[in-house]
Amino acid sequence: MSLVLYRNAHLATPIDPGRPLAGPDQGRILHQPAGALLCRAGTIAAVGEEAAVLRELQGAIPERTVDCGGRCLVPGFVDPHTHMCFAERREAEFGLRLEGLPYLEILRRGGGILASVQAVRPASEATLLENTRRHARSALRFGTTSLEVKSGYGLDLDTELKMLRVIERLSKDCPLDVVATFLGAHAIPPEYREIPDRYVDLVVDSMLPAVAAQGIARYCDVFCETGVFTLEQSRRILKAAARHGLGVKIHADEVNDLGGAGLAAELRAASAEHLLAAADSHLQRMAAAGVIAVLLPATAYSLRKDYARARRMIELGVPVALATDCNPGSSYCESMPFVFGLAVLQMGLSVAEALTAATLNAAYAIGLGDRVGSLEPGKQADFLVLDGKTPTILAYHAGVSPVIEVIKRGETVFWTPPPDTLTVPPEARKENRTWN
Ligand code: NIG
Ligand code: FE
Repeated sequence: MSLVLYRNAHLATPIDPGRPLAGPDQGRILHQPAGALLCRAGTIAAVGEEAAVLRELQGAIPERTVDCGGRCLVPGFVDPHTHMCFAERREAEFGLRLEGLPYLEILRRGGGILASVQAVRPASEATLLENTRRHARSALRFGTTSLEVKSGYGLDLDTELKMLRVIERLSKDCPLDVVATFLGAHAIPPEYREIPDRYVDLVVDSMLPAVAAQGIARYCDVFCETGVFTLEQSRRILKAAARHGLGVKIHADEVNDLGGAGLAAELRAASAEHLLAAADSHLQRMAAAGVIAVLLPATAYSLRKDYARARRMIELGVPVALATDCNPGSSYCESMPFVFGLAVLQMGLSVAEALTAATLNAAYAIGLGDRVGSLEPGKQADFLVLDGKTPTILAYHAGVSPVIEVIKRGETVFWTPPPDTLTVPPEARKENRTWN
């Protein structure tokens, strides 16, 4: 049974009480200087003060010992909201937005999400898989070890199922844990433009039963927004999804406050996303119902909008998670360190709150809280070595990724020499390597 020891590390991790952390608990993380972490067969066997971890070894010699040189170890990031399965980028549309054309106006004119639909419908599964894999690989280099991916660029039964098959294949041939979400209600397709309720019928009567029967999605999501799906249509779709045994998520109050956050509370959704325009009264209901707020600051950044009121959410007791929203339109970003920096510097989260948001709370938002999201015995050995002494480096070192090693289920899946030791030969990563 393979034993790998990471020693001489500063450990920083939320502690999992079996649920997401909210209110003051969101910022309570464990710091263990002079710490160590022992992986056995892909699982964390022991973690904490180095001397105590060494005692757990009981004389056994690890196959590999890594001296972290006092660097920081954090749980692998969990990115609980992405649309990274797409066929083509939308760089020209970004140019239009820079000139002032609003995101929803682009959609109204048949661009935006609908441009992606046009590209995905004729795309082969192989092409889609290659694109998605490329984005997942990039996310992994930035420290993402678990990931959610949504469908939603098909908007017809066959293409939605094609996207979900691609996401399923991704989960089998990349090292990340991948969770699939069915987002058939991402936009009204052009052929239903004048009869949107008929499209809702299609989602409820044909798509959801097929998706549920194939067991290829864990959640169902809806884009509840002006000109997209109304609150009533969203309620109908999500209630049907729940009847089919799918978990429920909602893109709520991204541009306008339609009451999506309140609906998330009413349905006891796993999470509500965006929430830039959500009212306090609805946030209070989310807190009472334990709905996780998945905040997407890279989207606010790219859309040049005011950031979600993360401080207020934490004050109200809403558990906050962070995600990239990686998609070709509103947030072309697969970097959790970038999102982390925005959360701290633009939304006012403390480093500890942001760490919880990007790991444990994000894990709970996609149903993986029992397996990943913290450095604790029994959890999967998914963790990162950062080129810094504490997780503060994630906000402090702007515009670069301080993630120098990514470990997934105990295996190194990405490694790069820290910038100050560029001369370290690649072989150094193999046996008993050290960065000092
Ligand atoms: O979360 N808001 C809706 N969906 C995505 C954007 C998708 C796209 O523009 O392609 C979002 O921002
Ligand atoms: Fe989204």
